[in-house]
Amino acid sequence: MFLEKMLQSQGFGSRKHCQQLIKNGAIAIQGEVITNTKHKLDLNHLSFSVYGERFEYREKVYIALNKPQDYECSHQATHHFSVFDLFDDVLMNRGLQCVGRLDQDTSGLLLLTDDGQFLQALTHPKKHVAKVYQMQTADPVTEQQIQQLQQGVELRNESGIFTATDVILLAENELQLTIHQGVYHQVKRMLAAVGNKVERLHRQQIGALTLPELEQGKWIYLDEQQVELAKTRMVI
Ligand code: URA
Repeated sequence: MFLEKMLQSQGFGSRKHCQQLIKNGAIAIQGEVITNTKHKLDLNHLSFSVYGERFEYREKVYIALNKPQDYECSHQATHHFSVFDLFDDVLMNRGLQCVGRLDQDTSGLLLLTDDGQFLQALTHPKKHVAKVYQMQTADPVTEQQIQQLQQGVELRNESGIFTATDVILLAENELQLTIHQGVYHQVKRMLAAVGNKVERLHRQQIGALTLPELEQGKWIYLDEQQVELAKTRMVI
């Protein structure tokens, strides 16, 4: 791939802008400044620097964010910050998108990617990717509520039954459960349907990928193995 094309694919702006960067001597590969826009590259394990800042070539990006509360998963956040505020322009130029959504007041594992196929694989309703949530509830969780959640509840304006699996009572008012669908406010509505209320919600796992050790608001690139774990349907 030509250098100008590679830079463009990585989010460094239009072809013209990338050509200008190269001509300005901003790009170095293995310490050597390259000013030929048509310099041919081997993309395998390629790293390069732009004005001294080091980057690795990535065909696609897969990101795990520990989403804080008070961040919205939309580009045009209205009343809060947007999760996209946590990423720089280079990543945003690649067309980063959230893989599903978390509510503004939900924290925890949020995946972002520029790979449309990965996004589709994880969000398609027929794929049933498992999502594990932990929550604090307004009232103590009863055995009957747990049974109802496992047997399934109906939700207004949604067809079918919504069930939870692997329901674990962590404390009197703390519950962990797994869902395999993903409709609007699903966990909150399921808890309301059994007569309780979610006070605080946190996503801990998607597929077989658990939230990496990350401070809230911090993110990492996922490696190939982690991407595969996220696509695993059943919780191990
Ligand atoms: N269910 C909810 O109610 N909210 C979320 O953010 C995710 C799942």
